[in-house]
Amino acid sequence: MKSGDPKNIAVYPGSFDPVTSGHIDIIQRAKPFFYSLHILVAENPSKSTLFSIDERVEMIKSATSAEKNIIVSSFSGLVVDYARKVNAKAIVRGLRAVSDFDYEFQMATMNRRLAPDIETIFFTTRGKFFYISSSMIKSIAQNGGDISSFVPESIEQKIINKFK
Ligand code: PNS
Repeated sequence: MKSGDPKNIAVYPGSFDPVTSGHIDIIQRAKPFFYSLHILVAENPSKSTLFSIDERVEMIKSATSAEKNIIVSSFSGLVVDYARKVNAKAIVRGLRAVSDFDYEFQMATMNRRLAPDIETIFFTTRGKFFYISSSMIKSIAQNGGDISSFVPESIEQKIINKFK
């Protein structure tokens, strides 16, 4: 299937609490392979987040406003159910360190079991984003550190303000 085919749809799910420059890099690198990419913000009642679901959606929208055919939504439920609803053929995930691998492998295996027709595709993190995580960014911001090189410019102040 060609990337220009409107049926070539992928879903990139995550907590995005908040979205980081590493996430944006994955979005920009994955996008050329698909006609449209759904960024799916997970609503997980058992996981406490700093930002509300609406804030997380808004932050991704502002950081991706220049990108075409990016759809940002929230969901509570199974990623594969959302993927089926929008006819996605693939789930995109980013891989940083080896420590990500076990969890990601389990999740991809379970998702394939639930939906054998939907493939998980991994993008390895670019070197400069290797050590970035949403939790580290929150910790740096909370302690007054400089997060400017870790998050999109459009959301930097919003993160800082959260700790004021
Ligand atoms: O950014 P995260 O926290 O690593 O993302 C985790 C996420 C949202 C992808 C994962 O928790 C998830 O898929 N949640 C939805 C529930 C689901 O589909 N579970 C089945 C996969 S094991």
